[in-house]
Amino acid sequence: MTISRVTVLGATGSIGTSTLDVLGRHPDRYRVHALTAHRSREALLAQCRRHHPAVAVLDAEEDAAWLRGQLAEAGLATEVLAGSQALVEVAEAPEVDCVMAAIVGAAGLLPTLAAVKAGKRVLLANKETLVTSGALFMEAVARHGATLLPIDSEHNAIYQCLPVEHRGGLGRHGVRQLLLTASGGPFRGWSREALAEVTPNQACAHPNWSMGRKISVDSATLMNKGLELIEACWLFDARPEQIQVVVHPQSVIHSMAAYSDGSVIAQLGNPDMRTPIAYGLAWPERIDAGVEALDLFQVARLDFEPADEAAFPCLRLAREAMAAGGTAPAVLNAANEVAVEAFLAGRLGFTEIGELVARVRDARPVVPAKDLETILEADVLARRAAHAWLVRQ
Ligand SMILES: NC(=O)c1ccc[n+]([C@@H]2O[C@H](COP(=O)([O-])OP(=O)(O)OC[C@H]3O[C@@H](n4cnc5c(N)ncnc54)[C@H](OP(=O)(O)O)[C@@H]3O)[C@@H](O)[C@H]2O)c1
Repeated sequence: MTISRVTVLGATGSIGTSTLDVLGRHPDRYRVHALTAHRSREALLAQCRRHHPAVAVLDAEEDAAWLRGQLAEAGLATEVLAGSQALVEVAEAPEVDCVMAAIVGAAGLLPTLAAVKAGKRVLLANKETLVTSGALFMEAVARHGATLLPIDSEHNAIYQCLPVEHRGGLGRHGVRQLLLTASGGPFRGWSREALAEVTPNQACAHPNWSMGRKISVDSATLMNKGLELIEACWLFDARPEQIQVVVHPQSVIHSMAAYSDGSVIAQLGNPDMRTPIAYGLAWPERIDAGVEALDLFQVARLDFEPADEAAFPCLRLAREAMAAGGTAPAVLNAANEVAVEAFLAGRLGFTEIGELVARVRDARPVVPAKDLETILEADVLARRAAHAWLVRQ
């Protein structure tokens, strides 16, 4: 069996850790080429001890120097690099076959694009890449012959429910609609008044999935579902109205494809990100992910309901941004990142997250997203507008 060499961008995060868990189960198939983190130098050291990567990357030179010292003491030969250019280098390195793109936020954009341009197999967890630069990104995937496998459980599920060749518009393949499932988050059924009192710790306690804090808040506001709707449009050549959000509190069905003959194909499994990660790593084969078999008798029932867009306006804002096109999704994403950060810092109420995003959206013009510079500029200006609004509060 040929060994596949893997770079894990964002190795110390929730997705990164799950990826290393799967990789560690298959030493005969995978070698870790590079592991990257932002500031979590101790966690990265522990991962280097376990997985012996050729390269490790941290953001600050000071942290990198510390890691170099620790690795030398442990007698490990891992090279340690620092800064954002190093992320690009380990993503496009010729010896790398597969890149897990699991850095959170806009910082993931350039290294993910570098992996695509180098024609790698790219396991895409980072949402911001498709949300902010979907058109450019999908164009680059096609031009450079990269293999793109979505890791978000919903998109991974849809990928599994569609025909192998599904580009060129859903209608061409007899697909009527994509059904994007949502757990509804920890506040499903809450009124807007009750939501106004929500604290960061409440928002981060997701009922079914264990995730990073930013994405946990996004799940609670349903912005996460909105961002996923935008991602699904790009990944599967769909229009926003071809995607229906279905609240499904058990999180057992991870999404579905509805066909014109009346068939609905669903992907089911325990809520564990190691399933889509293992699928992405091994596709088109299947490997053990360490995930328990789904016990349907224990699940017993599956419930479905529409999303409450009045209480959770972020979903509507995202759909409108996708329909508006151009830089609108990048503006939405930037404003949301600032708002979530302010909420987690106790500077903004839970329901004010959507309000701030709507204000920034109204204040920023939509222009065609013709290149990365235009998108990054829209992102910076949206963040500035969001910060200015926060200061005025
Ligand atoms: N968790 C899930 O279940 C899930 C599901 C679907 C999609 N996703 C998406 O996958 C991505 C990762 O999610 P997560 O939950 O794993 O996030 P997370 O737990 O917050 O981990 C983020 C990772 O990115 C690194 N990082 C953060 N900021 C960085 C920067 N400026 N430069 C370089 N590296 C940076 C972190 O390093 P430090 O540890 O040093 O901070 C960490 O390794 C997100 O885009 C998320 O939306 C997550």
